[in-house]
Amino acid sequence: MEKKRYERPAIIKHMGGLANKFGKSQGIRSKPEIDNIRVDDIVREFGSPVFIFSERTIRKNIRGAAMSFGARYPKVRFAWSYKTNYLDAVCGLFHDEGCWAEVVSEHEYDMALSNGVPGNRIIFNGPYKPEWSLVRAMKDGAQINIDHHDELMQIEAIARRNGGPAKAGLRINLDAGIHPCWDRFGFNLENGEAMDAARRIKTGGIVNLNGLHAHIGTFILDPSAYRAQAMKLASLAIAIEKELGFRIETIDIGGGFPSNSTLHEQYSPGEDSNPPIDAYAEVISSALLTAGFSPERLPTLVLETGRALIDSAGYLCASVVANKRLANGTRAVIIDAGVNTLFTSFWYRHNVYPVEEKNGMVEETVIYGPLCMNIDVIRPSLRLPSVYPGDLLVLHPVGAYNVTQWLQFIRMRPAVVMIGLDGQVAGIREPESVEYMKKMESVPSWIKRNGGAAK
Ligand SMILES: Cc1ncc(COP(=O)(O)O)c(C=O)c1O
Repeated sequence: MEKKRYERPAIIKHMGGLANKFGKSQGIRSKPEIDNIRVDDIVREFGSPVFIFSERTIRKNIRGAAMSFGARYPKVRFAWSYKTNYLDAVCGLFHDEGCWAEVVSEHEYDMALSNGVPGNRIIFNGPYKPEWSLVRAMKDGAQINIDHHDELMQIEAIARRNGGPAKAGLRINLDAGIHPCWDRFGFNLENGEAMDAARRIKTGGIVNLNGLHAHIGTFILDPSAYRAQAMKLASLAIAIEKELGFRIETIDIGGGFPSNSTLHEQYSPGEDSNPPIDAYAEVISSALLTAGFSPERLPTLVLETGRALIDSAGYLCASVVANKRLANGTRAVIIDAGVNTLFTSFWYRHNVYPVEEKNGMVEETVIYGPLCMNIDVIRPSLRLPSVYPGDLLVLHPVGAYNVTQWLQFIRMRPAVVMIGLDGQVAGIREPESVEYMKKMESVPSWIKRNGGAAK
């Protein structure tokens, strides 16, 4: 008979939510496999921690979203939001599914080009687009959404230098009932600035205004905000067409749909309570279809959905490195992935699954990362069975904004792998090393490298 591991006794305060005074039957789910591939095999090959992406889930998510919108509105285009996750393999899947690229810097623009996206299928957003990048984007025929008056003047000057008309869209900010209202990007609708910018473009006589864009915020749990946004953008498009004669070909509603993550302040789990993408498709499509466009001049609906398409496709597998008791008696577990790797821990209560089934006592636990920093908290509180050094934990969903916002801070960024449709497992980003990081640095000749030896 296999010898059972000794579990240290602990006194736990009785509280609501415990199934019984032993707190045993909490049904913590384990996750030994992802897409039928054993997680411990992946860790053996690629190390710990390791990000794991599922091709199957990525394709399922984008096809589901395209179906939700395509069934309700005849002209729909998805543009993959690069900043949400710009690993080439991930972008490659979205482009393979027909997505354009949405970029917010010249670097992301370069990445899109190197992923084979032609410039005329790139949407170029953001408050800072260096002059040379505007020149390139205009030459390529990219969809530039103008953020402010200075950028408009730059674009007009480039167009004049080129001796011909240019096309561009306007980024709009508006009150969709989401507060605080994001008003730092683009031109405000309610105070008339947006319409004035369109008039200004008309009088400039060199830029053809062809699209409207707005991104009302992130993780918007109320679909009706998008109804307000779509109605307001549609009314503005109709007003611009009527007064100025510009043909608004695209209405771009940005991103912001929630994934199935759970915000720290949410009561119930996101996977149970966050509205499905259908709810957003319904209100946006109906707002555009009833806005008053003539059927032959219906604008293309552009979506820059990020997190809702990739979050659930990403997992982080990390190892337990230690158990501790805090001074107040709380159980603490230290794992080998910190907030530098899992940035979204600041926003979300990630689900945590032991890779092996655990039947030990479930107890309120805090999960810390390995950084020597007080802020390195992965889960401030969750109910977890006993785990031991070397045990593996899977954190999910983590596919959005981590592998772009992660940083080398105390520890290097780990490997990323993808599980293909046929169960192939491939590394898509190597783990970083000190040599890789130090390649960028040099020490001036006047600084002696004597390693602290006395003079
Ligand atoms: C302009 C723009 N488009 C798209 C997105 C993607 O948003 P999300 O990942 O919330 O869907 C963002 C994110 O901030 C954005 O700023």
